[in-house]
Amino acid sequence: MEGMDGRVVVVTGASSGIGEAAALLLAERGARLVLGARRSERLLDLVERIDKAGGTATHARTDVTRRDDLHALVTLARERFGRIDVLVSNADAGTISPLDDLRVDEWDQMVDVNIKDVLHGIGAALPAFRAQGTGHFITVSPGMIGTDFAEASTNSRVRAEITKMRDRIAIPPEAIARAIAFAIEQPATVDVNEIVVRPTAQH
Ligand SMILES: NC(=O)c1ccc[n+]([C@@H]2O[C@H](COP(=O)([O-])OP(=O)(O)OC[C@H]3O[C@@H](n4cnc5c(N)ncnc54)[C@H](OP(=O)(O)O)[C@@H]3O)[C@@H](O)[C@H]2O)c1
Repeated sequence: MEGMDGRVVVVTGASSGIGEAAALLLAERGARLVLGARRSERLLDLVERIDKAGGTATHARTDVTRRDDLHALVTLARERFGRIDVLVSNADAGTISPLDDLRVDEWDQMVDVNIKDVLHGIGAALPAFRAQGTGHFITVSPGMIGTDFAEASTNSRVRAEITKMRDRIAIPPEAIARAIAFAIEQPATVDVNEIVVRPTAQH
């Protein structure tokens, strides 16, 4: 398979920000999307927007800390579209604070969401990739992007600082969506190992 046409792409954390922008761009370019996050009403709205624009998407309420939810998301892709070509592991707890705050429960939460999203995703998708003989995991590394990712921080100073910096230098989530599309659209012989996308103004 080359290019985007017909690829089945599963995106976690698709209800906002980068995940949402990626879903819209990939659908526009011809991928079939399977969208996961906890806020299913936002996912439903996104699926309807994609449908209306002539794209193809489905969704399932997914909490990435739950292994079964990621298996169910991959199963949905295979049942609905017969395969899964790409898994974009994009969920984030957003519980940002200095280590000095010792908000250790939030460290647990961040590990549960940010790390288990990737690991449970690999656990769910790898058997399908092996059976197909092909498959693609994506975890692109972004700089400061114009999303609400810091809203979940319980440290008001951190929240205010990140918001201020975001409003000053952030680039839109579509910049990361394009990087994700670039990685997917490469021929099978080309492996994109690393992409770091940052605002020019970020030092
Ligand atoms: N924005 C930046 O400047 C920046 C910088 C560096 C890295 N990143 C990375 O970019 C990725 C996307 O973040 P974003 O900026 O687009 O922020 P965002 O809009 O807050 O997106 C985070 C997504 O994660 C989902 N999520 C959180 N907990 C979840 C859970 N337990 N199960 C499933 N989904 C969960 C949220 O959906 P629900 O609440 O509906 O579940 C949301 O869709 C993250 O991995 C983040 O670490 C962003």
